[in-house]
Amino acid sequence: MCGIVGYLGPKKAKEVILEALKRLEYRGYDSAGVAIFTDGRIEVVKTKGKIARLEELLKERDLEGGLGIGHTRWATHGKPNDINAHPHRCGPIVIVHNGIIENYAELRRSLESEGIDFYSETDTEVVACLISKKYRGNLFEAVVEAVEELEGSYAIVALSEKEPGVMVAYRKDSPLVLGVGEEEYFVASDIPALLPYTNRVIPLEDGECALMTERGYEIYQGGGRVKAKKEPKFISWSPALAEKAGYKHFMQKEIFEQPRAVADTISSLFSPDDGSFGLFEEDFAQVIKDVKRIRLVACGTSYHACLVSRYWFDRFSKIPVEADIASEFRYRDISFGEGELCIFVSQSGETADTLAALRICKEAGCLTLGVCNVMESTIAREADSVVYTLAGPEIGVASTKAFTTQLVVLFLLSLYVGMTRGVITKEDIVQIAEPLVYIPGYIDEALRLDEQLKELARKFMKKEHFLYLGRYLNYPIALEGALKLKEISYIHAEGYAAGEMKHGPIALIDENMPVVVLAPKDKVYEKVKSNIEEVKARSGVVIAFTDRDNRELEGKCDYVFYLPKAKEYLTPFVYVVPLQLFAYHVAALKGCDVDQPRNLAKAVTVE
Ligand code: G6P
Repeated sequence: MCGIVGYLGPKKAKEVILEALKRLEYRGYDSAGVAIFTDGRIEVVKTKGKIARLEELLKERDLEGGLGIGHTRWATHGKPNDINAHPHRCGPIVIVHNGIIENYAELRRSLESEGIDFYSETDTEVVACLISKKYRGNLFEAVVEAVEELEGSYAIVALSEKEPGVMVAYRKDSPLVLGVGEEEYFVASDIPALLPYTNRVIPLEDGECALMTERGYEIYQGGGRVKAKKEPKFISWSPALAEKAGYKHFMQKEIFEQPRAVADTISSLFSPDDGSFGLFEEDFAQVIKDVKRIRLVACGTSYHACLVSRYWFDRFSKIPVEADIASEFRYRDISFGEGELCIFVSQSGETADTLAALRICKEAGCLTLGVCNVMESTIAREADSVVYTLAGPEIGVASTKAFTTQLVVLFLLSLYVGMTRGVITKEDIVQIAEPLVYIPGYIDEALRLDEQLKELARKFMKKEHFLYLGRYLNYPIALEGALKLKEISYIHAEGYAAGEMKHGPIALIDENMPVVVLAPKDKVYEKVKSNIEEVKARSGVVIAFTDRDNRELEGKCDYVFYLPKAKEYLTPFVYVVPLQLFAYHVAALKGCDVDQPRNLAKAVTVE
C-alpha cells in the first residue's frame, strides 16, 4: 500500500509532489522517489528510507519541470532498497504503482524471453516494461493495452519521455483520485494529499483511465475504452485539518481532537432533543426496516469498534449480530439469508480485505452499508449507503479519533435499527441517547490524565510484556489498548476478556507482568474486581482504570486512575482514551516513530 502522486501544471512539479508525498507517507515509508520531466528528459531521483531523505537529495537537483510523478513505498515485491524504489523506468516509460501484480512472474519470464533485462525485483518494473513494449508513440493507448494483461490490484501513473505534456493514470482495485485545479491536474492515492492544492476531486472507479494534458483531462471507462463525462466533486476538508497544529505528533493531535470529532459526528447524524436521525437517505431508510440480521466486518481498530457495537445491537436493536475480521470473513462459506444488513467499518474506506468482503456481500444480494471517514473512498462509493464519521483526516498510523467517531455511528445505528424494528420508541431513544451529549466533555476530562499517564509511561516503558483485561463492553477496549501499545511502541501486549484469564494468561502473571485492568462500575464490575484479586495473588502489577466515584480499588491495585462516570453502555468512549495516551507516551519516550511505526501502513490496500 504505497502512496502515489502525479502533477501536471504551471507549478514546480518537484515541490507539489514532495508536499503531497509527505501527506501520503502514512501509506508506506520504505523508500521514496520522484520522476520529473526536465529539459526534454525524465529525471528519476529515488532512495531507500523516508521522504525526508528524498527531500535532501532533491535539494541538490535542479529540476524545474511542471510534470512529474512520485511514490512512497510499502514494500511488497522486493526488499526496501534504492533499486526497488519507484519510479521505475523501461525505455521511454516511467511509472509509479500502488498494488500487487499477481501474474508478474509470468509476465517477467515472457518479457525476459523477448530479451528485456530487469534491474529490480519489483512487479512494477514489469508493468513499466509491458507498457514500453506496447508503446507506439501514444502513452494512453499503451497503458490501456498493457493493463489488459495485468492481474491483481493496481493504481498506476505513467509518463513517456517522448510525450512531454502527457500524464496517464489507471485504477483497478487500488485507490486513485484525480484533482482538478486551475489549468493544473493532480493524481494521488487519497484526497488529503491534494487538499493544499484543490478541493475539486474525481475519485477514479475500477477500470477507469485518466488522460491529462495541458489542454485538460479526459476520463475513459471500461478499461480505458469508453469516454466518460465526470464532473469534479467539492470536498469540504481544509488543508489545515491535516497539519500538526503545534502537537509533536499527528497521533497526539488526533487523540486530543476527539472531543471535537465525537461532537461533530453526533451532531451531524442525530438530534438529541427529538431523537431524530440524519443517517440515511429516504430510500435506504425504507429498506433497512426489513433487516433481520446484522454482520459487521472490518480490520484492526475498526474491527474493535464493531466488537463494542455488538453489545449495543444486542441490547438496543434486539437483532442477531455478528462481527468478523474482514480477512477471515472473505474466506468463509457463508449462507446468507433474507434481510441481511452488512456493515463495513473502515477509516480509510480502502482496506483491501474489507472491500473484498463488501463485494462478496453485494454479490450475495445483501444490503450493504459503509461506515467510513474518508469521503468518496471506494467502500463509501460501492456500498449501498454510507455514513461518514466526521473525524477529519487521520494521519497517524495508529487510529484514535476514527475509532471513537466510529463508535458514535455504530451506537446511533443500533438505536435506529431498534426503532425501525419496534424494539424501542422515539421517547426511549431520546432517553438512551441523552447521555451521549456528555461524552465529548468526558473525553476532554479523560485527556486531563495526560501528565499522569506520561509519568506512568516513564515507569513502565522498559517492560517487555503487558496484559490488558476488560469485560463486556470494555473487553474490545482491552484489545484496542493492547493494539495501540504494540503497534507504536513495539512492546508485546495482549488484550484479553478478563473472564478468560483463568484459561491461559494467568500462567504468565508474575511480578514482571503489568496488567492494565478496565474496571468501570458496570454490571460486571464485581467480576472484574475478582480478576484483579487473582492477578494480585500472583504478584502481578495492576494498573486500574475506574469511575471517579469508586475508591475501593485504591488499596488493591498498584496504580488507579479515575475517569468521569459515563452511562454504563457508553464507557468504551471514555476508557479507550487513557489507553491511547499511555501507548502514545510510551512510544514517544522510547523514541519510536509514533506516526509511522515500522512495518505498518495506515491504509492496507493489499491483501
Ligand atoms: C491498518 C491501520 C489501522 C487500521 C486498520 C484498518 O492496520 O494501521 O490503524 O485500524 O488498517 O483500517 P481501516 O482504514 O479499514 O479502518
